[in-house]
Amino acid sequence: MTNQELVQRSLAAIWHPCTQMKRHESFPLIPITRGDGVWLYDCEDRRYLDAVSSWWVNLFGHNEPRIKAAITRQMDCLEHVMLAGFTHEPAVQLSEQLAALTGLGHAFYGSDGASATEIALKMSAHYWRNCGLPQKNRFVYLENSYHGETLGALSVTDVPVFRSAYAPLVRDNFRVMNPDSRQALPGESAKDVAERAAQQLEVLLTAHHNEIAALILEPLVQGAAGMAMYDAHYLRRARSLCDKFCVHLIADEIAVGFGRTGSMFACEQGPIQPDMICLSKGITGGHLPLAAVLCRDDIYQAFYDDDAARGFLHSHSYTGNPLACAAALATLQIFADDDVLRQNAEKACRFDKLFEPLAGHAAIRHWRRTGMIWAFDVTDAPPDFAQRYFAAALAQGLLVRPIGTTVYFMPPYIIQNEEVEQLAAGALTALEQSLEAR
Ligand SMILES: Cc1ncc(COP(=O)(O)O)c(C=O)c1O
Repeated sequence: MTNQELVQRSLAAIWHPCTQMKRHESFPLIPITRGDGVWLYDCEDRRYLDAVSSWWVNLFGHNEPRIKAAITRQMDCLEHVMLAGFTHEPAVQLSEQLAALTGLGHAFYGSDGASATEIALKMSAHYWRNCGLPQKNRFVYLENSYHGETLGALSVTDVPVFRSAYAPLVRDNFRVMNPDSRQALPGESAKDVAERAAQQLEVLLTAHHNEIAALILEPLVQGAAGMAMYDAHYLRRARSLCDKFCVHLIADEIAVGFGRTGSMFACEQGPIQPDMICLSKGITGGHLPLAAVLCRDDIYQAFYDDDAARGFLHSHSYTGNPLACAAALATLQIFADDDVLRQNAEKACRFDKLFEPLAGHAAIRHWRRTGMIWAFDVTDAPPDFAQRYFAAALAQGLLVRPIGTTVYFMPPYIIQNEEVEQLAAGALTALEQSLEAR
């Protein structure tokens, strides 16, 4: 099949996500037939460097042989069984390993990130209900947060373009200042901004803690906000305020978990222990959909009862799918076998140097990095900068999708020097071309 045919059939048959479909009249869909390492290939073998790990999921690139082999092995014995009333070894092993890594337990499985957010929000409110405090059923979220787009998740997501059309369907929760260090006033450090945001959180919790079940946040980096990075001081302050006011702290590590910020989980850099952690995206190295929520033992115990209605009756058909669990186990094995966190720390410093020619461009502000996430903001960008940049980057053989005027790279961890050099050079050309349009 040619590129052209595949695109035409796709436009006729698929409603693509996160897309105003009419845009494809001027910005063509990119047909992809295969992936290998950091590269995606179209029908005519043109290739694109996947600098965003396909929505931040492909930690070790495409077609990772060890993950593929684990899925194939699992396929030979059990592809699926419902997890209500049944169990299987891949889910048990994965739950044990995630518990050892997070210090939390009783993994509850979902499919995508938003399903993990829903699980955590429901679990928190239901916990307080089981404790005789049903009025604690609202949530606190940070400005510019993103926790997914199902209705519950949207109620703690602060991105108007995703939320506004559904406002009448979405419950009102409490939004507080985020600790994004770009908000520093003259003379303020990133830690000062974090402290200022924490003080606002304290004011809110003082007034409303009786009706609040949980605070949900993306630790260290708010991804969809445009890779807003912040000081770990905020995590420590949020933890102690949640303790003081009897409010759960839900860490949404869907985007930042599994090494992306430099530690296995971003909360470790507080260090803090959340009451619940939401995991997805990189959990299977991008090979199958899976999400998990782990919680403190006393949360689990509050549901353990003779009364079915006090149990957590949430479910999804594919909960704990054995193939996805096998992919996740293989992903964790790669972290151990390849000493991924140490390797990433070394690589990131090397890559900083390779990015220098780009980082020094006069139109760039707030060049920043946390772990394996690089981002910068573009000044005086034209209104349609994101689309222009996306198209210009594609022409350079790069998959880079800016968020507004923020360009970011979240490459697969296996990326090599030479590929980063291509990325840096192509990203610079794309920047200049997108700015010429002003
Ligand atoms: C921090 C965070 N939470 C939740 C989600 C939702 O995940 P999904 O798109 O798999 O529903 C995302 C997705 O980008 C995310 O970045």
